[in-house]
Amino acid sequence: MPVIAIIGAQWGDEGKGRVVDLITEKADVVVRYSGGDNAGHTVINNLGKFALHLIPSGIFSKDAVSVIGNGVVVNPKSLFTEMDMLTSRGVDVSPARLSISDRAQLIMPYHLLLDKLEEQSLGNSAIGTTLKGIGPVYSDKVARRGIRVGDLMDKKAFKVQLKAALDRKNQVLTKIYGVEPLALEPIYDEYLAYGQRLAPYIQETTLTLNEALEKGKTILLEGAQGTLLDPDFGTYPYTTSSSPIAGGASIGTGIGPNKMNVILGVYKAYCTRVGGGPFPTELKDAVGDQIRERAHEFGTTTGRPRRCGWFDGVAARFSQRVNGFTGMVITRFDILDVLPSLKVCTAYKLDGKIINYFPANIDVLARCEPVYEELPGWMTSTENIRKYKDLPVNAKNYVKRMEELSGCPANLIGVGPAREQIIEKSPII
Ligand code: GDP
Ligand code: IMO
Ligand code: MG
Repeated sequence: MPVIAIIGAQWGDEGKGRVVDLITEKADVVVRYSGGDNAGHTVINNLGKFALHLIPSGIFSKDAVSVIGNGVVVNPKSLFTEMDMLTSRGVDVSPARLSISDRAQLIMPYHLLLDKLEEQSLGNSAIGTTLKGIGPVYSDKVARRGIRVGDLMDKKAFKVQLKAALDRKNQVLTKIYGVEPLALEPIYDEYLAYGQRLAPYIQETTLTLNEALEKGKTILLEGAQGTLLDPDFGTYPYTTSSSPIAGGASIGTGIGPNKMNVILGVYKAYCTRVGGGPFPTELKDAVGDQIRERAHEFGTTTGRPRRCGWFDGVAARFSQRVNGFTGMVITRFDILDVLPSLKVCTAYKLDGKIINYFPANIDVLARCEPVYEELPGWMTSTENIRKYKDLPVNAKNYVKRMEELSGCPANLIGVGPAREQIIEKSPII
């Protein structure tokens, strides 16, 4: 019966895919509700290691169906690459197991091109996007000139839509960026072929999801990106372009907000960020390098090194507030096993004054100096610990501080990337 949302509480890559995979055995339906193939969700299970970008991390469960919701932006080429990869490794991605909303927006070749050209034109101020066309496709969605997955089912109407879109885009490409225009026919033919392959997967997913709820089924909402990349609440404009937060899960699926019972924030035991933008607790020193190397903090989608820093309690509390988290999942706890001393940020110092809120303006945020509290490390491996009571006392104190600062109780603590490397501190439901 419950709807459980799994949401990134920091700047993405918190381990959402891993958490979804863990809880999937309790679920009947797993839904992606925002973002596109800018996401990279790692799942390690009995079939091996997988990087998923568009397909929900529930796809490995034989008992759950996976849904790509209306809030997702779909690059069909990436989707098929992912489907083929999964099929070749023995995972069933037939229409009985996977459906795609007819309302999901399509990423078109001009979105990819414009993402690259816009980033290039920004020079030193570039966002550091994943270059997957995310900003341009969501811009077209809200400007009411996007093309949706369901539109591919009407060849004639699709051609009219595509022509209108290309006429505009070619003006921008030639007059603003001085590059060659794109031709209509190759894109039309390419996307018609995609439409044929997509057809059996396309559904009115708000119906299937709400019918599943009426039948008492359990739905997992799989977040992409993280709260601090949200265009409203994140470090704007260094954000993504769709809403990763709990509210976004309602918009991106058509499941009413009153249906969400459990909203879990996934927090790394420290912080990372990939791409540009302010990051108050960033460590630009040997400790930051040590965390990056030990945790292999390199992007799942782009391979870029992730910036690493201490756990930010101010940002954590902000995240809890704007999502209404009912609990937290701590991941990558084991990474801290080797550090003799740890810091957590408890407040910011802004122009000489102590503040405890997360400023909206990035120039103000960049002026914030973290106020740290130092905690002793535990200097022993937690990788094989499965019960909370067996954690060293310093480790328990660190968890307690994360709970106090974020304002939500910890349900699960990850002590390694494998399915079984998890400590249940308190049950999710
Ligand atoms: P997502 O985008 O939120 O799904 O996260 P990513 O998959 O991009 O990055 C999270 C990384 O952390 C992956 O490499 C996971 O395998 C790994 N991971 C998740 N939980 C844990 C944990 O508790 N300990 C360790 N050491 N690694 C973890
Ligand atoms: P998952 O789901 C981490 C970041 C990019 C860039 C900014 C805008 O794996 O947690 P975009 O391509 O969305 O226009 O890029 O957002 N970003 C992510 N960072 N994890 C992600 O997804 C991200 N998706 C986008 O690095 O800074
Ligand atoms: Mg990721």
